[in-house]
Amino acid sequence: MTEIYTTFAAIYDAAFDWEVAGEVGSITALSGLSEGRVLEPMCGSGRLLRGFADAGFDTVGVDNSAPMLSLAQAHYDKHGLAGTWIEADVTGFDLDQACDLAICPINSLAHLQNEATMLAHLNSLSRNLYEGASYWIQLDLKAPVEVGASEEWEFEYLGETLVSQWACTGCHGGTETHVSRFVFPDGRVIEDDYEMKVWTFDSWMKLLGRSPFELSAAYAGGSFTPLRVDTSLNGERVFWQQLVKLL
Ligand SMILES: C[S@@+](CC[C@H](N)C(=O)[O-])C[C@H]1O[C@@H](n2cnc3c(N)ncnc32)[C@H](O)[C@@H]1O
Repeated sequence: MTEIYTTFAAIYDAAFDWEVAGEVGSITALSGLSEGRVLEPMCGSGRLLRGFADAGFDTVGVDNSAPMLSLAQAHYDKHGLAGTWIEADVTGFDLDQACDLAICPINSLAHLQNEATMLAHLNSLSRNLYEGASYWIQLDLKAPVEVGASEEWEFEYLGETLVSQWACTGCHGGTETHVSRFVFPDGRVIEDDYEMKVWTFDSWMKLLGRSPFELSAAYAGGSFTPLRVDTSLNGERVFWQQLVKLL
């Protein structure tokens, strides 16, 4: 398991923390939902899920990192919120009660390394959602792959300003190698690399055809401007796909 999600989960939590009320408002409005139960597979420390809880939704977060789930619970406690946390792999879990909506942001699904695990995940999700429910995901579709793409930003952690850096350093056999680094002011560096599966528009549509979901719409990240659902999605970065569970 990736160390930034376990040993260094608290630093990850500080680095990936931004306002989510706008995203929550857009997703619920476009789903036609003002109440209900929201599921987030790969919820991490609950950054986005917390926004749904704040808006009055019941929330269920699933993650295989116990440190991440502890941080999520601590955030909820601090904000006086209640939620359900389940430590499990997102390729095989079952809830007591189905959900009305599901979300999975920031390309987390690319951690699933092949078609079989992605299909197992979509089947798992489908078992825990009502028919017609939306599953909102951010999963970049790429052709060609952009080796060399990178980002960095500053964040506060325990009174210090750290730098978070991310880069795509290679691609082989349909998988990209990504590197994440947290750099302390004194030069100390925490670094982790991991593999992320690459999907193109065509390979993704083919896989969805074998799943219980269809791609119903796509929206630009941030603005939620509607995007065409075709190969022009290849290369669009951190956009939203609205998958709908088929009847
Ligand atoms: C990029 S983080 C995203 C966290 C959170 N969704 C957010 O938006 O900040 C990815 C998360 O997926 C979890 N994860 C990765 N593979 C998983 C799997 N197969 N089953 C369950 N959780 C997984 C990691 O522990 C980590 O918390």
